[in-house]
Amino acid sequence: MQHLVDTNDFTDQQIQNLLDDARSFKENRPIQLLRDRLFITLFFEASTRTRSSFEVAAKKLGAAVVHLDPSRSSTKKGESLEDTFANLCAMEPDAVIIRHSDNEAPRMLAEMQMTSVINAGAGSYAHPTQALLDLFTMVEHFDGDIKGKTIAIVGDIVSSRVASSGIRLLTRMGMNVLLVAPKPFMPESDLPQFEKLEDVLEKVDVIMSLRAQLERHASPLFDDYAAYAKHYCINHDRLGDRDILVLHPGPVMRNIDISDEMLEDPRCKVLEQVKNGVYMRMAILKLLLLDSNN
Ligand code: CP
Repeated sequence: MQHLVDTNDFTDQQIQNLLDDARSFKENRPIQLLRDRLFITLFFEASTRTRSSFEVAAKKLGAAVVHLDPSRSSTKKGESLEDTFANLCAMEPDAVIIRHSDNEAPRMLAEMQMTSVINAGAGSYAHPTQALLDLFTMVEHFDGDIKGKTIAIVGDIVSSRVASSGIRLLTRMGMNVLLVAPKPFMPESDLPQFEKLEDVLEKVDVIMSLRAQLERHASPLFDDYAAYAKHYCINHDRLGDRDILVLHPGPVMRNIDISDEMLEDPRCKVLEQVKNGVYMRMAILKLLLLDSNN
């Protein structure tokens, strides 16, 4: 039984297989490799992209998906996460796909060894499927040649599980990762750190903008989102005609993280990331349910 708690659960060969399978699923109508399989999604936090992307991915492969809405489940009557999970496992799903505010929740459930556990976002620790779909989008954009490319992760890095998983995966894949944020949004890290976006624009091949989460900070640094946007919004004035790929995991706060006109620019691949998310998650389900059991 293999789980996906973070990308370091996968070997380099498995990551290469995921990229190959995701590309193949994108190019060819998929066959129903997971007919008769059942997944349960269990999202304790809101999601638009990840949950629906997993459901679409599973259905494209012929699997059934059941969603348990925790806000209407017996967790509201005091049932623990472990008991909820054990009861769902008694229904014999092939995997449980979980999002939770607790960094350790997916690992704790995986260690119960009752079914395959897939982390769909845990606290500020990890969002491995987002990191893998971002990797796929960059590999596709640069024709496989990402080693030595430089990416700036911009925004509220310290709160971001997308940044945590992305930093671990992209440095492992040989990319140079720069961090751009005001000091209170900067994590402790050995990576190069910059306060000003302007200081990295000549160095980068990719900018990954993150959602400004000003509400999560105890002592506000900016008066409002407009004040933040003045320094960190990715817009035409800042980018000019530089050949920089612009990514964002979503949800994008328009004209705060990325401007309206930049979202329409061909350099911005936000919706391509969402499309690729389906194909990468199909590859992940195939790896966990078929390949790693052989
Ligand atoms: N990227 C991402 O995790 O989006 P959702 O929160 O909508 O799933």
